[in-house]
Amino acid sequence: MEDDKIHSMWWRAVSTVLVLVMMGSNGHAAICPSACRCENDILKTSCASASLEFVPIQLNPELHELDISNNKIVQIHFSFPFYENLLNLNLSHNRIKTLGNSNFNSQKNLTRLDLSHNQIENLTRDSLKGLKALTYLDLSSNSLEEINPAAFRELHSLSVLKFGGNKLIHLEEGLFRACKNLKELYLNDNQFLELPTAALTDTVHLRLLSLSQNLILTVEDGDMPNLSELQTLLLDSNVISEIHPDGLSSLTALSHLDLSDNNITAMPTASLAKLSSLTTLRLSGNYISHILPVAFRGLFHLRVLKIDRLDTLKQIDSRAFVDNIKLEKNTHGLQCWLWQLIQEHKARSLKLNETYSEKKMKTVTLDLILDVNDIFCYGPEDIEGELLADATKSQMDCSVSWMAAVSVTVTVTFILAVIGGVLYWAPKRRSRPIKKEISEIQDTIRRNMPPPTPPRKNEPYEVQVEKYILPPHMMIQNDYRSLPSWDPYGAGTVNIYEQLNEPRDRPHIVYV
Ligand SMILES: *[C@@H]1O[C@H](CO)[C@@H](O)[C@H](O)[C@H]1NC(C)=O
Ligand SMILES: *[C@@H]1O[C@H](CO)[C@@H](O)[C@H](O)[C@H]1NC(C)=O
Ligand SMILES: *[C@@H]1O[C@H](CO)[C@@H](O)[C@H](O)[C@H]1NC(C)=O
Ligand SMILES: *[C@@H]1O[C@H](CO)[C@@H](O)[C@H](O)[C@H]1NC(C)=O
Ligand SMILES: *[C@@H]1O[C@H](CO)[C@@H](O)[C@H](O)[C@H]1NC(C)=O
Ligand SMILES: *[C@@H]1O[C@H](CO)[C@@H](O)[C@H](O)[C@H]1NC(C)=O
Repeated sequence: MEDDKIHSMWWRAVSTVLVLVMMGSNGHAAICPSACRCENDILKTSCASASLEFVPIQLNPELHELDISNNKIVQIHFSFPFYENLLNLNLSHNRIKTLGNSNFNSQKNLTRLDLSHNQIENLTRDSLKGLKALTYLDLSSNSLEEINPAAFRELHSLSVLKFGGNKLIHLEEGLFRACKNLKELYLNDNQFLELPTAALTDTVHLRLLSLSQNLILTVEDGDMPNLSELQTLLLDSNVISEIHPDGLSSLTALSHLDLSDNNITAMPTASLAKLSSLTTLRLSGNYISHILPVAFRGLFHLRVLKIDRLDTLKQIDSRAFVDNIKLEKNTHGLQCWLWQLIQEHKARSLKLNETYSEKKMKTVTLDLILDVNDIFCYGPEDIEGELLADATKSQMDCSVSWMAAVSVTVTVTFILAVIGGVLYWAPKRRSRPIKKEISEIQDTIRRNMPPPTPPRKNEPYEVQVEKYILPPHMMIQNDYRSLPSWDPYGAGTVNIYEQLNEPRDRPHIVYV
């Protein structure tokens, strides 16, 4: 403390002398080095990409904004006492190894500090001392391994904190105790083996948490603290294989969840079922083989579902999406996926016809079983009611990325056991009766088996779901032979429906 005061007084004296000298020689309070661009009227200076090795100290001391990014600055000791009014400071893309102690102590009004793309290895107790107004701190792409648990004790205003691209393994308990306003925390691309639970218990107002690109193996019960305002959770590109059924249950406000590119082998239905506010779910790039009935149970608000790049996918049950009455984008994806499958199927059987005699043909088993003549389009309008197999590429309007994803899937040998109807993607249209919209989405669960005739248009009729359950003899996978008859609203099943207040949230099953 004494040290700090002495330093501060000393630098104040030096700066005063410097300023007086400049005023005497120049008639101005500051000079602008040729490498910098000074806009004195708005108190903004940029010395970006100027090959500077030190922070210039002769700039206007009233500065609000200083950009010294993309230079060769190695250390910042005693560099900023001159600039007490700074609001914005950009030190990114330099060669800073350490922030030292109390070097930002005069920046009481600084709100944004960018220290990304340096070589900072640690934050000591006093590295960030004095930054009481700081709302945005970017420390991404450094070499941080150690953070003193008291490093953030004065950062009461911090709202966005970026730690991506460091070497963090854990965060100490109490690290964010003073940061009651923290809204976004980026911990992506580090080396976390588990959720930093102890540090996260204090971040009660967190809205976004990124833990992408770490080494997290599981999400256990109690790993995720009570973050009741968390809306976005990014857990993609980890090695998660297990999520405890209550692992995420405290996240009552969660609307976006990314679990792509993990080691998930079974759809985490129970763990997701409690996330009743979820609108976007990403599960691409996992090792899921079966998407079982009501795989996305209780997710009535789900609009976007990404399940491409599931290389080991063998089966999608026709009842997988029954609860997801608001599903939008995925239906298009699935329709594209199916269409591509059919094209492959056609091409293959053509090739087989050429190669083998009709007799031999009978002994050749296609690894894909598709009832191509039972799969009809429910939209868009120009191909409504037609065989999906007859649709052209342009009618399908499938994006390149979907096609790429699909062809990966198709090259894998698999048996497509259950595919019902065909999904219809619903681009935003003028107001349509709710019932029809639901029915289009509910076509997902329409089983292709019973009705041998194409669906009749303009004749909505309600049916019971049981009618469309795949009969046991069609079951290819043994484990589904014993499926109990399925009644989503009956006793003994999920009482998650009870939790919904609005009766119109109840899934309505209508077939067109
Ligand atoms: C910080 O800002 C306030 C009001 O915006 C101002 O009164 C005060 O002088 C500033 N403090 C410093 C150290 O510049
Ligand atoms: C800092 O400068 C870098 C590169 O010059 C830029 O990409 C970045 O957006 C700036 N940071 C802030 C917070 O404006
Ligand atoms: C922090 O890193 C600097 C620079 O590598 C090093 O000199 C210092 O000893 C480190 N401090 C702690 C507490 O690890
Ligand atoms: C979680 O936090 C919210 C809001 O602070 C509170 O209402 C709720 O009771 C807490 N839940 C648990 C399980 O602690
Ligand atoms: C994740 O899955 C891959 C592919 O199945 C496997 O090679 C790897 O060992 C798994 N990693 C962990 C940590 O389970
Ligand atoms: C292949 O041969 C079978 C039996 O002769 C026939 O039903 C089928 O339509 C042929 N497939 C194609 C794509 O020509």
